[in-house]
Amino acid sequence: MLIPRALQLFKSNKSYYFIGSIMQYHDIIYEKKGPNSNIALITLNRPKALNSLCDSLIVELMDACKSIDKDPNIGAIVLTGSTKAFAAGADIKEMNQKSFTDCTKERFIERWDIITDIRKPIIAAVNGFALGGGCELAMMCDIIYAGENAKFGQPEIKLGTTPGAGGSQRLVRSVGKSVAMEMVLSGEPINAQQAKEIGLVSKIFPVDKLVEETLKLAQKIAGFSPLIVAMAKEAVNAAYELSLKEGMRFERKGFYATFATSDRKEGMQAFLDKREPRFTNS
Ligand code: CAA
Repeated sequence: MLIPRALQLFKSNKSYYFIGSIMQYHDIIYEKKGPNSNIALITLNRPKALNSLCDSLIVELMDACKSIDKDPNIGAIVLTGSTKAFAAGADIKEMNQKSFTDCTKERFIERWDIITDIRKPIIAAVNGFALGGGCELAMMCDIIYAGENAKFGQPEIKLGTTPGAGGSQRLVRSVGKSVAMEMVLSGEPINAQQAKEIGLVSKIFPVDKLVEETLKLAQKIAGFSPLIVAMAKEAVNAAYELSLKEGMRFERKGFYATFATSDRKEGMQAFLDKREPRFTNS
C-alpha cells in the first residue's frame, strides 16, 4: 500500500504523514532521538531483502534527508540498517530488468548522490553487510562507525558489472588504490577490523551498542553551532575535490568567514569566561 505512495511522492512531490514526531515511510524508519529530539535516526527497513536499495527506498531516503536538512531543530543524522545488514547493495531483482537505455534515460543511481549535498553531518552506523551500493551509501556519509560484524565490499564484479555509486571513486580516495582495486577486482569483502585499519571506519563497537554509541557522537556534534558544523563539513569534503593549494585557500576563507558569525564570538568569549558557550546558529 505504501510503496506506490513513495513512488507517487517521487512523481508529484506529495508530502508524507507525521504521527507524533515520527514521519511515516515504508522502506525506512525515521525517528527523532536525544533529549531535545534533535538527532534524526534513519533506519533502512527492508530486512527480508537485507536492506537492498530499491527505487522506493532511495526515494524515501532522499526525501527524508532533504526534509531533515531543512529542519532547524535537527543537528545531526544517523543512518543505520539492521544487525544483519546495513544494505546489501542495489536491489538486484529490480536492477536485473533494466537495459542500458533504461539506466541512461532514468539516470539510474545518479540521484543517490543527493545525500552528499546534505549540509548536516551524517554518520553511518554499519552492522552486518555493507556491500556494493550499501558500501557506497556508507561512504557518502561523513563518518562511518561499524559493528564488530560489519562487512564492507564491492562485489559487483561477481555480477558482471562494476560499482556505480562511488565504489571505484570514493573508495580510492578513502583507502588508497591498492586496497580499493583489490576490493573492486576480487569482489571480496573486508571485515570491521580491516576497515578500521585502513581508515574506512573510525570506530568499532559491539553490535548491540553500535547505534547507541553513534547517537552519542551525533549528540556531541549537535551541541555545537550548526552553522559552523556545516562549514567544517564543507571544508573537509572540499579536500576530496580540490588540489591542496585550492583546498588550503578554501579552508582559510571559511575560517575567516567564521569571524563574521556570532557563534565564533560566543565560542571564544565563553572559553575566556570559563563557561559553556551558548551557540545561536548565527
Ligand atoms: N538485491 C536484492 N535482493 C537481495 C540482495 C540484493 N542486493 N541481497 C540480498 N537479497 C535478498 C536475497 O535475494 C534473499 O531474498 P529471498 O529470501 O527472497 O531469496 C534475501 O535477501 C536474503 O539473502 P540471502 O539468502 O542471500 O542471505 P545470505 O545471508 O545467505 O547472504 C549476502 C547474504 C552475502 C549479502 C548475499 O545476499 C549477497 O551476496 N547479496 C548480494 C550482494 C551484492 O552483490 N551486492 C551488490 C549489488 S550491485 C550494486 O550495488 C551496484 C551499485 O554499485 C549501485
